[in-house]
Amino acid sequence: MKKITVAIDGYSSCGKSTIAKELARRAGYKYVDTGAMYRAVALYFLRFNDNIHNNPLVASLELTHRDKECIIEQLNNIHISFLPTSDGQHTLLNGEDVEKEIRTLAVGNMASQVSTIKEVRAFLVAAQQAMGAEGGIVMDGRDIGTVVFPNAELKLFLTASPEERAKRRFLELQSKGEHPVYEEVLHDVQERDYRDTHRKESPLRQAEDAIAVDNSDLTREEQMDIIMHLFEDHINI
Ligand code: DC
Repeated sequence: MKKITVAIDGYSSCGKSTIAKELARRAGYKYVDTGAMYRAVALYFLRFNDNIHNNPLVASLELTHRDKECIIEQLNNIHISFLPTSDGQHTLLNGEDVEKEIRTLAVGNMASQVSTIKEVRAFLVAAQQAMGAEGGIVMDGRDIGTVVFPNAELKLFLTASPEERAKRRFLELQSKGEHPVYEEVLHDVQERDYRDTHRKESPLRQAEDAIAVDNSDLTREEQMDIIMHLFEDHINI
C-alpha cells in the first residue's frame, strides 16, 4: 500500500500533536512534532544565555538583534532528534531528553519568537524534509502543508476557538503541576496566534488544498473518526 505524507497544520493548542501522534500510531507511520524542534532551539538559547534564563520576565521578553545573531551563530551546535517511547516520542537536544523542559510557557513563548528568524526556519525545515524524505510520515506544525511538504498527499488544517484552546492549555499546564491563570493563558494563546499568522517568514495559513477541521465541539474520538476516513480515502487513491 502507498505510504503517503500527512501534513497537519493549525493554531497552537488545538490538539494537533495528539491527533498526529494517534494517526501515526494507527497507520504505522513516523511522527514528527515540528513545534518541539522550535522549542528545543528556544531551550538551547535560554540555557546558552544565562542572563535571559534568569530573567523572571522571560515569558514576555522580546529578542534583540544581538540575541537573534547569537541564535543563528549557535545553530550548527544544535542537533535535534526524537526517541520513540511508549507514550509517543521524546525530544532529544544534543542527545539529552528535554521533553518535559520544552513544554513550559516560557519555552513556548521563546519558541514563538525564535520561529520568526529566517535562518532558524531554514535550518529546521531542511531537517524536517530529510526526516520525511521516504514518505510514511505524519508531521505537524504551522508550515508543513505550505513550505515543508507542499506536495503532501493529505493536508489537514485544525482549528478551535481561542477560548477552547486556552481552556485545554490551562488544564494541561495544571496537570503538569504548574499554576496557570486562565486569563493569562488566553492572552498568551491570542498573542501567539497573532505572531504565528503575522510574521514575515512562513506565516501560519491554510494551504489551498488543505482540509479544515474545526474541533471546538468534537470529542477526540469524533475527530479521529473524521481524520481516519480522510486518511483511508487518500491511501486508496
Ligand atoms: O506547536 P507548538 O506550540 O509546540 O510550537 C511552538 C512554536 O513554534 C509556536 O509559536 C509556533 C512555532 N512553530 C512554527 O513556527 N512552525 C512550525 N512548523 C512549528 C512550530
